[in-house]
Amino acid sequence: MKRTTLVLGACGQIGTELTLTLRAKYGNDAIIATDIKEPSLIELKEGPFEILDASDAMGLRAICEKHNVHTVYHLVAMLSATGEMFPMKAWDLNMKSLLHVLELAKEKVIEKIFWPSSIAVFGPTTPKQNTPQQTVMEPSTVYGISKLAGERWCEYYFNKYNVDVRSIRYPGLISWKSQPGGGTTDYAVEIYYKALEEGRYTSFLSKHRALPMMYMEDAIRATIELTEASSENVKVRSSYNLAGISFDPSSIGTSIKKMVPEFELNFKPDFREEIAASWPESIDDSAAQLDWGWAPKYDLEAMTEAMLTNLRAKLQLS
Ligand code: SER
Repeated sequence: MKRTTLVLGACGQIGTELTLTLRAKYGNDAIIATDIKEPSLIELKEGPFEILDASDAMGLRAICEKHNVHTVYHLVAMLSATGEMFPMKAWDLNMKSLLHVLELAKEKVIEKIFWPSSIAVFGPTTPKQNTPQQTVMEPSTVYGISKLAGERWCEYYFNKYNVDVRSIRYPGLISWKSQPGGGTTDYAVEIYYKALEEGRYTSFLSKHRALPMMYMEDAIRATIELTEASSENVKVRSSYNLAGISFDPSSIGTSIKKMVPEFELNFKPDFREEIAASWPESIDDSAAQLDWGWAPKYDLEAMTEAMLTNLRAKLQLS
């Protein structure tokens, strides 16, 4: 039986696009999509789909054995804003599911893992501009604490048990095919929907609160490139810094206005402003560039054009 690839959290913002991209590349049957709920996007059912709670160790093992899984993309997590409302649930989900997958790799049931970390591993004491790969890390959210702990576990399993695990510290991800949920960077997706649907948006982050961000197409390419890089080139086994675009609500608003001149942007910061204020404004990803050749393609203008064009078609707006 051929070995397959498993996507945990296939109905989520990243999982949806990753599953579709991997299937286009390797064929529908090579990619096993799983999630805790049935997909709303019908395309996800065009290949194997299994309902799975990623924190159920036995269920996860059974699916890995049934499908002879080689590589697991682990994309299940409770993000920063929701995590602050349910701290214990966030810790439980984010840590348990990762440890189950690491254990399966240690036992050689599976061979390779991709697991995402986040800019949330950094905190208020981290240098904000061009944040280095190695620096002070004192995260102040439960999400960030769980991602930092996860990074340490990944490196530990690599060093102790030779587990082939690879990871990226994702910036905020911006996509039109699937929506994010529960994150602090979600405003940068909502703003495009509201610009087209209502011509106005009220940002929950303040005008000049800059954060590192990336268009989903770049993020998916980075994910697959790192996972498929030859092992000796993957020198960081905790998680790689990854940079795309750095912008604040005001500049994304200006870029939208170029295509939607009547667009009106207001600001009403809420509790997410404090989370955003604890994160970097821009990221130094020279390690990813050097080790596995990372280079992003989209800048803010190109992303805005892609988002508005694709969303107009999706929402059937003229
Ligand atoms: N997008 C995430 C969040 O906002 C950060 O990784 O929580």
